[in-house]
Amino acid sequence: MSKDVYILAIESSCDETAAAVVCNGRTVCSNIIFSQIELHKLYGGVVPEIASRKHIEKINPVIKEALKEAGLHLQDMDAIAVTYGPGLVGALLVGVAEAKAIAYAAGKPLVGVHHIEGHIAANYIEHPDLEPPFMCLVVSGGHTHLVKVLDYDCFEIVGRTRDDAAGEAFDKVARAIGLGYPGGPKIDKLAREGNPEAIAFPRAKVEGNEYDFSFSGLKSAVLNYLNQCEMKQIEVNRADVAASFQYAVVDVLTAHAIKAVKEMGWDKLAVAGGVAANSFLREHLKKACEREGLHLYYPSPVFCTDNAAMIGAAGYYAYIKGARSGLDLNAVPNLKIGER
Ligand code: KG4
Ligand code: ZN
Repeated sequence: MSKDVYILAIESSCDETAAAVVCNGRTVCSNIIFSQIELHKLYGGVVPEIASRKHIEKINPVIKEALKEAGLHLQDMDAIAVTYGPGLVGALLVGVAEAKAIAYAAGKPLVGVHHIEGHIAANYIEHPDLEPPFMCLVVSGGHTHLVKVLDYDCFEIVGRTRDDAAGEAFDKVARAIGLGYPGGPKIDKLAREGNPEAIAFPRAKVEGNEYDFSFSGLKSAVLNYLNQCEMKQIEVNRADVAASFQYAVVDVLTAHAIKAVKEMGWDKLAVAGGVAANSFLREHLKKACEREGLHLYYPSPVFCTDNAAMIGAAGYYAYIKGARSGLDLNAVPNLKIGER
């Protein structure tokens, strides 16, 4: 029998300082996340300089904790995996510098991981049966992509947002109705008390690629609606606004994802990224997949939002395919998917 492969994974691309130990790409031995949300809340969004400074403060304790919780030592690791893009450059650099230092000092191979490929790989953790090829809807704070996962290390983008990411739209609309940061989970909760059909917000169609998305028009429609109410001195039902906005986003995401997976003749659809934690999106996708006879995969909420376990899962498949990064690995804030 071949030996188990242990990966120490590090993630610091935005406002979570995270480290994890993952065995054979699918078993999470530990998953430590220090969330900076409380710090950034004060400013209504992530402040890059504050994020970098906090990462520096937290990265060593978080890594120590990840090894301790796994009951393993650095010497037991087969490789060090780290997110090197996309993300905030100063935040990414903290994780990359740390991973390089550990890899050099411990004499371990280094594997740079794409953050979005990590989000996709989060689906492997709790679904031992899931193997490529499948379609993945990646919906996070910075990205909205429909991706063909052709193999563990082979991706093709089918559709992408032309403007705002889905999570960004959630955050902006949440701010407009006074819910604070991060808006996604707050809209998710408030929408449960509202009527998703109360206000007919637009479902954007974009010219050129039927799989592309656009959310900035929807965001403007919500802002216009709020302004109109204010001008006419009509009291806004915030739960209805949240539910109707959420429905407009989820409707378009679901329609594009189902169409894309069917066009490929595949029967597997996965969702990934922070917005994949949205309860209405999960419900809506579940119903649509049942109707179409498709298998739906999504990670538990803790593996949807930023974490290092997903980087360990993606890092494992890169590692066993022979991917290695040099000690000249740099942070790439706008790294494209599928690039190495
Ligand atoms: O994947 P993620 O943690 O970070 C990025 O890589 O961007 O995603 C964060 C985004 C935020 O915009 C947040 O509002 C959104 O995911 N989010 C949600 C939910 N939980 C997090 N959006 C809708 N519903 C949720 N339950
Ligand atoms: Zn992310």
